Amino acid sequence: MVNRHDAPRTSNAGRDEEECAAGFCCRCSNLRAAIILWASVRQDRCGEWQAGAVGQVELRQDTEMAFNFEQARKDRHRPAHALRTAESHAAFFLPYLKPGMALADLGCGPGSITAGLAAAVAPGPTTGIDLDPGLPAGTNGVTLVQADVHELPFPDATFDAIFACALLQHLSDPLPALREARRVARHGAVIGVADIDSAGYLIAPVDPRLTSAFEVNAKLRVGSPQTGRRLRALLHEAGFRRCVAQARAFHHGDPAETKALADFNVSWFTTPEVVQRVVAQGWATAEEMAQMSAAWRDWGEQPGAFFAGFWCEAIGWAD
Ligand SMILES: C[S@@+](CC[C@H](N)C(=O)[O-])C[C@H]1O[C@@H](n2cnc3c(N)ncnc32)[C@H](O)[C@@H]1O
Repeated sequence: MVNRHDAPRTSNAGRDEEECAAGFCCRCSNLRAAIILWASVRQDRCGEWQAGAVGQVELRQDTEMAFNFEQARKDRHRPAHALRTAESHAAFFLPYLKPGMALADLGCGPGSITAGLAAAVAPGPTTGIDLDPGLPAGTNGVTLVQADVHELPFPDATFDAIFACALLQHLSDPLPALREARRVARHGAVIGVADIDSAGYLIAPVDPRLTSAFEVNAKLRVGSPQTGRRLRALLHEAGFRRCVAQARAFHHGDPAETKALADFNVSWFTTPEVVQRVVAQGWATAEEMAQMSAAWRDWGEQPGAFFAGFWCEAIGWAD
């Protein structure tokens, strides 16, 4: 893996936790900020900061807390993301790929989708781009580049196919990143983007404590909960043409699925780093977080529990 200042080198899913987490997964775009803040904390520990100022101590505590939260979030979600495949999460995009295309996967994460996309365009080159990119062991023909999608380290018109799954929903403003994608798209290139729309969940039975839990999760995210429904418009606004969109539902509707969702959330709402962050931000008290956790436990024990949502998917062209 290389960072954006260096030259690149080559190097089954059922429900996944992004779905299980009811949308609060990955405050991903904060990862970079957390890393920078962490670096500041380490610098402080090396004694390079002026010691003793109360403001600096508070800042250090804030930055440590932010870093701890980001680390906990990543630890919880990344293994589930690694279960995704091109077949499970890019089926809408695969028909547009042809051998020989140069492909970019923006926000590739653990790279399990990237590996499948790479197989579809081989022997064309595939590049996975992320603030923290990875690849499944044994994957060939993929170059990983550590970079910010707002500032892609590639010349104009580099790629024939561009993909982004569950990236845009975590950006405070997806449009600049899509404009950057348009810049690196060759004439005639195809782009495929997929995001959950977390403002459109269905849940039964309703519980006011769960309503509060969704509100807290929305605050823990950076991006808009309505990104999914905006994908077609965002692609068009970024300069792509002939844009089309669709949605596919996911659900938790049998005992195993509802238990998995409930267990994840029972645990999430009692994760110390999550509680610490929510309480510090004043979004809820520790007692309220415990009640939200209990609500998920109660929900999981309901024989009629049901949860559903949408992955929204859009295709566009660089005409
Ligand atoms: C929810 S994960 C999705 C990973 C993968 N696409 C998937 O669907 O399994 C979002 C990814 O976007 C990355 N990311 C967030 N903001 C980014 C940015 N500004 N530049 C590059 N990558 C970013 C995160 O590091 C994370 O790996």
